[in-house]
Amino acid sequence: MSPDRNRLHIAIQKSGRLSDQSKQLLRDAGLKLSEAGKNHLTARAENFPLDLMFVRDDDIPTFVADGVCELGIVGQNVLEEYALGLNAPRFEQVARLGFGRCSLKIAAPESLNFFSPSMLNGQRIATSYPRMLARFLEQRGIEADIVTMRGAVELAPRLGIARFICDLVSTGATLEANGLAVVDDVFDSEAVLVRTLKPIDAAHAEKAHALLTRIEGVTATAESKYIVLNAPESALAAITEILPGAEAPTVVPLIGRPGHVAVQAVCQESVFWETLERLKAAGASAILVMPIEKMMV
Ligand code: PRP
Ligand code: ZN
Repeated sequence: MSPDRNRLHIAIQKSGRLSDQSKQLLRDAGLKLSEAGKNHLTARAENFPLDLMFVRDDDIPTFVADGVCELGIVGQNVLEEYALGLNAPRFEQVARLGFGRCSLKIAAPESLNFFSPSMLNGQRIATSYPRMLARFLEQRGIEADIVTMRGAVELAPRLGIARFICDLVSTGATLEANGLAVVDDVFDSEAVLVRTLKPIDAAHAEKAHALLTRIEGVTATAESKYIVLNAPESALAAITEILPGAEAPTVVPLIGRPGHVAVQAVCQESVFWETLERLKAAGASAILVMPIEKMMV
């Protein structure tokens, strides 16, 4: 495969927890994706100079570090494990994407009814993330044996390979199915966009910048809401406090209702029913919450 140097290349997960949402993010950024090639290893954007490369998540950091792909979408868990094995940084994280949240946890058989980190001393711990686990143990001054496994880590305690495991937990279903329970947190992760630190030419850099701006727009709008409400002027300070992640709301007078104003604001964080109840209790009325379709900051 010799990559077309007039196009930008992005590595995304072939199949797994991030693949559908990675593709959806690119579609939300306005890209029209062609069907994957016959080999299902590549696809292209028809209206943007971007080629998609579908690879195993563990291979994405390498593709981006080597500059085979200028960009990649990957979980921070995979990225961090790879980065801990490097002498110098070879890629940089450019945006958090807000999906694929999961965390690396220490788990033990459910029968264990008490846990303190010192109990890991002298134990065997099975994991696919040996570097992150080693750092975790070192920071706590714990000496334990790390047993590296490529997969099926959850089986280790039952097979007598290790008493504890250190594995990725998302819904928790896998742990539960294997009679295991979380005892400690190692690392919280979500999908991120990464960029190679290999020098790229101006034309590629410009395309990458344009794509990044669009992706930032998509992620910024995902949770953002536009809120409109009426309020007595005297309640303005209290209401501004409650509006989640809103900077400088617009305040306009209400004709025929002296002392009352309409407040409009972009909220950059989730707006919950509880938020609305608090706004109402503070004096707000006629509260509207609207989705934002596109945003460019
Ligand atoms: C992880 C992990 C567990 C599962 C946990 O594997 O190794 O098997 O996900 O998810 P749950 O808490 O929702 O049950 P992953 O799907 O990332 O596969 P991989 O390790 O082969 O990349
Ligand atoms: Zn994997």
